[in-house]
Amino acid sequence: MLQHEENRVLTSVGPGTPCGKYMRRFWHPVAVSDELKAEEPVRIRILGEDLVMFRGSSGEIGILGLHCSHRCASLEFGKVEENDLRCSYHGWLYDRQGHCLEQPTEPEDSTFKDRITHKAYPVQEAAGLVFTYMGGDDPPPIPRYEAMFREDGHRYVYSMYTNPANFLQIVENGSCDAFHVPFLHGSKVDRYIYREGREMHWFRETDYGLASLTLRKPVKEGDTTVYAHITSSVMPHLTKITLRPLRNMEGHEYAMPPIELMVWHTPVDDYNTTAFELLFIPGKDYDKAQLDKYIDGVAMTKDYKKSWPPKRDERGRYLLESVPEQDAAMVVSQGPVSPRHNEHLATSDIGVIMVRKVLKEGIDNVAGNRDPKGVVRHDDIIQIPSTDEWIEVGAEREVGAIMKDIGERWVTTGDLTVKG
Ligand code: FES
Ligand SMILES: [Fe+2]
Repeated sequence: MLQHEENRVLTSVGPGTPCGKYMRRFWHPVAVSDELKAEEPVRIRILGEDLVMFRGSSGEIGILGLHCSHRCASLEFGKVEENDLRCSYHGWLYDRQGHCLEQPTEPEDSTFKDRITHKAYPVQEAAGLVFTYMGGDDPPPIPRYEAMFREDGHRYVYSMYTNPANFLQIVENGSCDAFHVPFLHGSKVDRYIYREGREMHWFRETDYGLASLTLRKPVKEGDTTVYAHITSSVMPHLTKITLRPLRNMEGHEYAMPPIELMVWHTPVDDYNTTAFELLFIPGKDYDKAQLDKYIDGVAMTKDYKKSWPPKRDERGRYLLESVPEQDAAMVVSQGPVSPRHNEHLATSDIGVIMVRKVLKEGIDNVAGNRDPKGVVRHDDIIQIPSTDEWIEVGAEREVGAIMKDIGERWVTTGDLTVKG
């Protein structure tokens, strides 16, 4: 449980708040590149700030404060002129750096425009997503996670949905709480069907956040393969998962490769969070139709699109028909900001406790003007651990004891192999 004030510090992302200053040390995805057409300004809200985003004729993107510096009309109604944006009210013209270039209703010799500084944030596109940095001078590079930059396969990006809930409970659900999977999703995802005592979990802090390992005993008697799943939580709000449907729990073989799945949870404000998803499928030999069908069935991507907003019955209760609806019902029903002073955290909440600790340390580091975990100052490719595989453990020893060995070794070394 957290005290009211601790909860507020970890969840408030607006300008000037401790977590808001922390969040402003990171690049955040704010749009899918392909969806931002030239000449159509789009209103967005990020970290509690209302902004307008537009693509100029050169293809470059600008992100400016939504309200005109003159008399606060919304620039979403503005007109893109080459690479600048003109307010539709009195025609003030802004460039992508927030300089006011023209004030056509002022006297010709006026220098007033030179004294106007309009809010503007740097923008970069990477891996089909638009990122912005709202932390002022000295932005670090966008971290080069491998799935964003690999060239040996196919990449898909989606702007998924906005959940009416604070980012932290969504991160806690998606990256740090493997325990909910067999209960909440067991009816939907058959390989997760809960069987007493068949799961074990381990968590460890990593260079970028934390990772969790789940091991599941085989469902069939006599089967000596253990199912292993690692999910990583990358600060401040990225979840990395591998989905490898090469074989299900009944031993059926699939022909397709594993999917590397990354989901960013960009805070809109304290009470809303937008997810951006990137899928990378290694291998060049698949045609588009084959991949589309595969993703439809496996990655739940279309499931998200189909089931957003989540379906409710006539009394307004969620129907819980799909995985995203099941997750949404849980995180949204916690309230816009989960009232953590009412919690009773248990042993199974170790991942939740760890991510709050890493977040708190990050906030403290930013307060001390140090980079928080997750900010990098290099351009090297970064591998984030995740896996989805079956490990042959042999039959000589009791499977539970072998799982315990694998998990304990993984916590210290990250090594999943079976030895001895
Ligand atoms: S309000 Fe934008 S130019 Fe007047
Ligand atoms: Fe879930």
